Amino acid sequence: MSQAEAAVQRAAQALASGALAILPTETVYGLAADAADPRAVAALFEAKGRPRFNPLIAHVADLAMAETIARFDDRAQALAEAFWPGPLTLVLPITDQAAVCDLARAGLDSVAVRAPAHPVAHAVIAALGRPVVAPSANRSGRPSPTTFSDALEETGVFALAALDGGPCAVGLESTVVALLDEPRLLRPGAVTREQIEAVIGPLAEAEDDAHRSPGRMARHYAPQAPVRLNAAAPEPDEAYLAFGPDAPEGPRVFNLSPTGDLAEAASHLFAYLRAADRTAPRAIAVAPIPTHGLGEAIADRLNRAAGFVG
Ligand code: TXA
Ligand code: MG
Repeated sequence: MSQAEAAVQRAAQALASGALAILPTETVYGLAADAADPRAVAALFEAKGRPRFNPLIAHVADLAMAETIARFDDRAQALAEAFWPGPLTLVLPITDQAAVCDLARAGLDSVAVRAPAHPVAHAVIAALGRPVVAPSANRSGRPSPTTFSDALEETGVFALAALDGGPCAVGLESTVVALLDEPRLLRPGAVTREQIEAVIGPLAEAEDDAHRSPGRMARHYAPQAPVRLNAAAPEPDEAYLAFGPDAPEGPRVFNLSPTGDLAEAASHLFAYLRAADRTAPRAIAVAPIPTHGLGEAIADRLNRAAGFVG
């Protein structure tokens, strides 16, 4: 067995024993627990400081495992076929209440499911042989960790196993779509609205709290410093998240994408928010960033980092 395989086995054993594990995914690092184990899930909420009304995503190895816990209609099937494994989470009716315990679902009769594309996450779930809940590995309200060291800094102390999968390729959390009545976009993410609508047609908005993801508080993903959006340039004592080729330079300037590429900007967003925050600035100013395609998810995270209602 290679070293990497042995590490996967240890992480799966840690989860099976009721402990927590830090796992890389293609979106952000997750803090994982066995979805069927209420004590492990309780420890997970505790470690994150997460309100218990905010349900978790059940991560599966593949569609076959997902179909053992949730009901897939034609639209869910089509979306899973188009985007799994990958950064899309589907909220569906739960069919096996024990497989994803009540606490993990915050008592709802729906369950959020996703099959991550990262080979390490996939290997651990397959080795455990059942769904794994994994919220982003940050303490509640903080930016999601997109590197192994950021994940360790946030919640490493609570994990019995921690696997390094390198920096997360996507850098933003998965898109969340509810397929309970009308299809609704609950959280914009790496799979864009346009890509989803191309498969199942128009998405309704999550226009009120009943339809919004329960965990979507206005101030979320927040660094310590205040965040100032749509800033053409930084003011004295501010750090600056720049975008594109014409940005100023300086010790506190972090360019999300010098070429103006949204995917590159998304992959750097949380790591650069953290890096800017470490310079202890008066505020973090952020350049204007286009809001089409992936830009919708970037704008969503920035608005929440700035404390605006989303
Ligand atoms: O990319 C991701 O999804 C990452 C990686 C680790 O997979 N995970 C992640 O989990 O972002 P978390 O717990 O930070 O976000 C889960 C989101 C929350 O907004 C939660 O409210 C929503 O999914 N959610 C979970 N179950 C739900 C349900 N039954 N109905 C509506 N929203 C739900
Ligand atoms: Mg999160």
